[in-house]
Amino acid sequence: MNLNYKTLVQKYGTPLYVYDFDYIKNRYEVLKEAFSGRKSLISYAVKANSNLSVIAHLAKLGAGADCVSIGEVKRALAAGVDKYKIIFSGVGKRDDEIKAALEYDILLLNLESEAEMKRVEMIAKEMGKEARISIRVNPNIDPQTHPYISTGLHENKFGVEIDMAKRMYIYAKKSSFLNPVGIHFHIGSQLTNLDPIRESCNIVADLVRSLNAIGIEIKFFDVGGGIGVVYDDEKTISPTEYAQAIFEATKGLDVTLLCEPGRYMVANAGAFFTKVLYEKQNGHKRFVVIDGAMNDLIRPSLYNAFHKIEAVGAEGEKTNADVVGPVCESGDFLGKNIPLPPLKHDDLLIVHSAGAYGFTMASNYNTRNKCAEVAIEGGQDRLIRKRESFEDQIRLELEYLEK
Ligand code: LLP
Repeated sequence: MNLNYKTLVQKYGTPLYVYDFDYIKNRYEVLKEAFSGRKSLISYAVKANSNLSVIAHLAKLGAGADCVSIGEVKRALAAGVDKYKIIFSGVGKRDDEIKAALEYDILLLNLESEAEMKRVEMIAKEMGKEARISIRVNPNIDPQTHPYISTGLHENKFGVEIDMAKRMYIYAKKSSFLNPVGIHFHIGSQLTNLDPIRESCNIVADLVRSLNAIGIEIKFFDVGGGIGVVYDDEKTISPTEYAQAIFEATKGLDVTLLCEPGRYMVANAGAFFTKVLYEKQNGHKRFVVIDGAMNDLIRPSLYNAFHKIEAVGAEGEKTNADVVGPVCESGDFLGKNIPLPPLKHDDLLIVHSAGAYGFTMASNYNTRNKCAEVAIEGGQDRLIRKRESFEDQIRLELEYLEK
């Protein structure tokens, strides 16, 4: 991002999320290009960054949306995503969510259990509709990532085992209210090694071949999301190698290849801007207290995730400091042992790679207002979410306050 940081901060205040829309466009185009030569659909995982303008930006480029709640489906539709490019996944869909998804006539309801399939069948029957479904298969592959974001092992709550999936497809094929057209897996997030994806693709492609053999025609082969990004200096998966591995595994299958990248699209498009409030020293430990906190960006606290932190314009010898927020929790930090120059009140820190699972995981803990969000496109900045106010926060409680 080539920006005048100080101007942005003066205009919009801090803490602030800033996203580079040109970077997002480039990420989409690179991935789409990697899939050229085969039928493909990139359905952006809205959970990574669900700002309407971010979704709309991707929708204009041709992306679909991978959603995990009816709220996300509504966001995708509101942002202009084509309904036939929307997938609805998740282990616990409520009746009203299933009903709404069928009414919206989205591309696929992605099923994660037999019980859910029966529920979808019942609701589709009541509505006199046929539900287009895919089944999420759990290939029992270790994705070699953080246990909290690993999803493809039998010990995880997601998907169904191969045998169960087969039984479900056979059942669905016979039902007048279910149309099993897709297959899906997602083994985890921030994957930096291609082997687990390759292995899962092979397992699931074999299942597709055996389904085709008994007359169940799978049209959508969904490999989930999970492409890892660089937060520090890690080596990660190249989009071309990723697509090639999927091509290889699905050779001979007449399917549309679907993928659901979230982090890949937006993580490194985003930065979190925060200002220094104070420096303090406790014994031998140096703390930099900032105006941003764990409620704005919870990844360091929750996963011990690393985000590069840079001090803008400050000079002098760097020493290690913990960068901490004002929230009353010892776990409220954005970085530990970060080399930083001496800092003073109002100095600006930039927390990098914050475009994915940053704002979407933010909360109002400690009655802190959610930040503003800004897009940069073609060198121009624009507000895409207003900073929340105290009045916004109490609005839903105020009328119930006993006088
Ligand atoms: N598809 C499904 C079914 C998913 O569960 C996920 C992410 C994605 C796609 C997108 O995965 P991605 O391409 O972004 O890796 N909050 C965590 C990440 C949780 C990911 C949950 N599922 C974090 O901040 O690292």
